[in-house]
Amino acid sequence: MRKIAIIGAGNVGKVLGCALKKKGYRITSAFSRSEKSREMAANLFQCPVYSEPEKAAYEADVVFLTTPDRVIEEVCVSIALKKGFRKGQVVLHTSGAHSSTILISARDMGADVLSFHPLQTFPELEAGLRSLPGTFFAVEGDEKALPLAEELVVAMEGKMLTIPTEMKPLYHAAACVACNYLVSLMDVALRMYRVMEISPEKAFEALSPLIFSTMGNIKALGPEKALTGPVSRGDSSTISSHIDIMRKLTPELLPLYRSLGLYTVDLALKKGTLDKEGEEKIKKLLGGLK
Ligand SMILES: NC(=O)c1ccc[n+]([C@@H]2O[C@H](COP(=O)([O-])OP(=O)(O)OC[C@H]3O[C@@H](n4cnc5c(N)ncnc54)[C@H](OP(=O)(O)O)[C@@H]3O)[C@@H](O)[C@H]2O)c1
Repeated sequence: MRKIAIIGAGNVGKVLGCALKKKGYRITSAFSRSEKSREMAANLFQCPVYSEPEKAAYEADVVFLTTPDRVIEEVCVSIALKKGFRKGQVVLHTSGAHSSTILISARDMGADVLSFHPLQTFPELEAGLRSLPGTFFAVEGDEKALPLAEELVVAMEGKMLTIPTEMKPLYHAAACVACNYLVSLMDVALRMYRVMEISPEKAFEALSPLIFSTMGNIKALGPEKALTGPVSRGDSSTISSHIDIMRKLTPELLPLYRSLGLYTVDLALKKGTLDKEGEEKIKKLLGGLK
């Protein structure tokens, strides 16, 4: 069984390390920056935990670099300079934003490199372990290391999503839209309800059945068929009433309302429920036509 090193025993390092350990993989060394983290990692993995990352890396066949994004490259270079990498190793990081190219210093030492991003959120160990089954892992990098990536993903009951190296920023931008911008979108709706003195808690409770059934419809039907509402029906007078009241009460939210509305016009056209006349009226109201 391969020897695995966890360099950065934080949220992701602990979750992936524990998940692999449960499946019989051997976590044989780890590194963490603080004494407290090292103690916790030693308890979890029952292995030596070093304060020098190169010591943890050298012994292992598979090296997980699970430090914050901003220092992955720097930590990789420092391990390489101290000859902590070698031929035959696979070195991977779990950042969604960066590609495997930031691990070039490990590749220069003969290792194969990957980026191996779990498309999931890990606020802490237990919740992370619960959410792991079914999680997609976006993987790109050296072809020779892809079978190992697949083996690890399957062991963690995940699913593999292979992406081209040069597309990594686009992959990450899409994940930000789906996760972070969804949060912002919900906040916009709650802000509009707050104008009527409906608390955010009450507003979310009221909107929840709508939100979750919409998610279910997108999953079952795809975005085009799941689309309902005034843009889809071509109800331009309804859109006009939205704009009038938002101009008075929430003018700061109008640019977002307009640009999402214009995107929705295209979706409604693809769905086939919006005719030419409706399209022109709504685009004019939303500022998409002069
Ligand atoms: N958390 C998530 O939801 C999530 C999801 C998908 C991917 N990721 C990715 O996974 C990676 C790790 O994220 P995380 O949330 O697990 O981070 P984290 O909980 O902050 O853990 C970071 C680890 O790196 C160590 N570290 C911090 N600064 C360091 C430095 N300057 N030099 C060396 N080691 C340092 C920390 O040590 P100490 O604890 O001793 O300070 C800790 O062991 C990132 O690339 C992130 O983008 C995170």
